Amino acid sequence: MALLPLLFFPDPRLHTIAKPVAAVDERIRRLVDDMLETMYEAKGIGLAATQVDVHERLIVIDVSEQRDQAVVLINPKVVWTSSETHRNEEGCLSVPGIYDGVERFDAITVSALDAAGQPRVVQAEGLLAVCIQHEMDHLLGKVFVEYLSPLKRNRIKTKMLKAQREESR
Ligand code: NI
Repeated sequence: MALLPLLFFPDPRLHTIAKPVAAVDERIRRLVDDMLETMYEAKGIGLAATQVDVHERLIVIDVSEQRDQAVVLINPKVVWTSSETHRNEEGCLSVPGIYDGVERFDAITVSALDAAGQPRVVQAEGLLAVCIQHEMDHLLGKVFVEYLSPLKRNRIKTKMLKAQREESR
């Protein structure tokens, strides 16, 4: 297993639209392992392949306290959403230190393949539902700060660029 380098907002590669995973083979299984390791190391609760510059439809999530309930969704598709929505505070490993409210469905049902390539259906609510929606947005090239006002988004962009400049000095 290996830690993978993350892309940080406003890196334009975060806006790439991911293609479906063609086959759940050895390469994909290694990618899943590396993404899980990278997510746990960064103390994140979710990671999309987009964030490690792989533009295929694959996300990993673990919202458990014990960090032992990995959810792997390959080629995820939303098949149902609740009528109720809520604003939840979100953050993102690609936008470190920034947290803000985003409106999401309270519950969703997703069909996908798991890490063994087997079809599965996940009925999610609460934090897991929010996290799946956030990660699936990444696969469409969307970062959560794009839901915020242009003013806020620009402030975040400036802050991120400044931090990245200082770090590369
Ligand atoms: Ni994110």
